[in-house]
Amino acid sequence: FVDDIYYFDKVDSTNSFAKKLALEGAKEGTIILSNEQTGGRGRLGRVWISPPCSSISMSLILKPSIRPWDAAKITEITAAAVAIAIEKVTNLDVNIKWPNDIIIQNKKVCGILTEMGAELDNINYVIVGIGINVNIDEFPDEIKEVATSLKKVAGKEISRKEIVINIVREFEKLYYNFIETGSLKETVEICKRKSATLGKTVKIINKSETIIAEAVDINDEGELLVRKENGEIISVISGEVSVRGI
Ligand code: BTN
Repeated sequence: FVDDIYYFDKVDSTNSFAKKLALEGAKEGTIILSNEQTGGRGRLGRVWISPPCSSISMSLILKPSIRPWDAAKITEITAAAVAIAIEKVTNLDVNIKWPNDIIIQNKKVCGILTEMGAELDNINYVIVGIGINVNIDEFPDEIKEVATSLKKVAGKEISRKEIVINIVREFEKLYYNFIETGSLKETVEICKRKSATLGKTVKIINKSETIIAEAVDINDEGELLVRKENGEIISVISGEVSVRGI
């Protein structure tokens, strides 16, 4: 899977750099890593903090022959791969907050930012950005109630190298399985087993409305099924889902 690796001491954002490379023709399997990001980006225009040497900032360039509306599946594949990788290295109990946050003891340790370039119905590239709080000791006041690091929960330093190696290994398995079979079965199985969302009351914020519902299942396509207050079950593809209490 790995075609080429770029490793920076400091970069603004590995996702932004990956995008530039992808537009210049970089191949699928190009990986960008940085010790530090000065302009790390989170979802919904948020800032993502990646302090030097204590976090993982990693982007993968993919060129899958899928439709733009299937790109959300890549995010779930990544979440499943990261969850398994962290568990293998740390033995910690890891959960996935659908579709793209990795949670340990109810606090976020990893966020995923998937960005794509598409023309009409064709994808040119997909960038998967993974940010993991590995050996961070202290978080700023604004996020310390909701964020944690692997070191904080494990009580010891965790090897960033081991985590990266395992992510690539797990991602490769799940991604090729999806590309070759078109089925997301293995990924969905992991996302369900490790879900921090199922059984919870969730708030879904769409462009036009906010829905309060109970998360009841993840279907074979990776969509979250929620039961609205009137009993109707609807599927959610992505968007902002917040689990109450998390
Ligand atoms: C989120 O939870 O809001 C997503 C955070 C994604 C952060 C990663 S770190 C590597 C990559 N480069 C970025 O600028 N963002 C992603």
